[in-house]
Amino acid sequence: MPHKTEDIEIRLLLEAIFQRYHYDFRGYSLASIKRRLKQARERFGCSSISILQDKVLHEPAIVPELLSFLTVQVSELFRDPTYFQAIREKVIPHLRTYPSLKVWIAGCSSGEELYSFAILFREEGLEEKTMFYATDINPEALRRARAGVYNLDRIRLFTENHQKSGGRSSLSDYYTAAYGSAKFDRTLRTRTVFSDHSLVSDAVFGEIHLISCRNVLIYFDRELQDRAIGLFKDSLIRKGFLGLGSKESLSFSAHTAAFAEFSREEKIYQRRGDQ
Ligand SMILES: C[S@@+](CC[C@H](N)C(=O)[O-])C[C@H]1O[C@@H](n2cnc3c(N)ncnc32)[C@H](O)[C@@H]1O
Repeated sequence: MPHKTEDIEIRLLLEAIFQRYHYDFRGYSLASIKRRLKQARERFGCSSISILQDKVLHEPAIVPELLSFLTVQVSELFRDPTYFQAIREKVIPHLRTYPSLKVWIAGCSSGEELYSFAILFREEGLEEKTMFYATDINPEALRRARAGVYNLDRIRLFTENHQKSGGRSSLSDYYTAAYGSAKFDRTLRTRTVFSDHSLVSDAVFGEIHLISCRNVLIYFDRELQDRAIGLFKDSLIRKGFLGLGSKESLSFSAHTAAFAEFSREEKIYQRRGDQ
């Protein structure tokens, strides 16, 4: 069955991006890549994907902006508050038993998920013994994550989410408002290492107690999801936890057997001790 011309063009473009810039989108789900490339094509005024490919190869300056089309940055503080409530009520009691902790936020976007965990761990008295690793492939998102500055009009939603997650303090304790922005307290990130890390091509992190990777795997095809989940399996300590997004699961993964369902509703899994 011959492929559609546009599908061929997309594959060639993704190969070109990989060979020239080492960003590997070849294993992302085609439907979502197609939607994003349509927007990129319009933005860059290209009448076809092949013309966009020519531009990408000869104008490296457009790559950062192209990346922002290819990766979805949407995030919130305490996004899906019941997930954070489950972390607080069910996972934290296990984490308390360790003398030190490592937490990996994979695909942290502009940092909202990281600040949620940093605040939650502070409220639960675990911050002092925890190291956070916040990773993403998008350099602009990582820059914003390091800055921790969000538009003030998002704070109302963040505050509601925080309360619904069982927040023990007022969110306003953690930021300063000025000139239409909320700047989160720098002490929230003193125990965080931000780094450029791709779930497609980079290696494991060692001895992690909790990995939160939410709303990232939905953009990957099955093979790539398996690669990422294998990476999580090898990065976690035995009995360590993995939290996914509400539309993600380990159900069809090659690594299902290595995990037990810890909270089915909240997509939280625990690495088995015997695998
Ligand atoms: C929709 S955001 C999710 C943000 C946050 N985890 C949340 O749930 O609110 C998806 C993030 O995954 C990142 N991402 C995409 N491909 C990735 C990869 N191969 N490795 C690491 N991060 C990736 C994107 O740059 C983007 O910041």
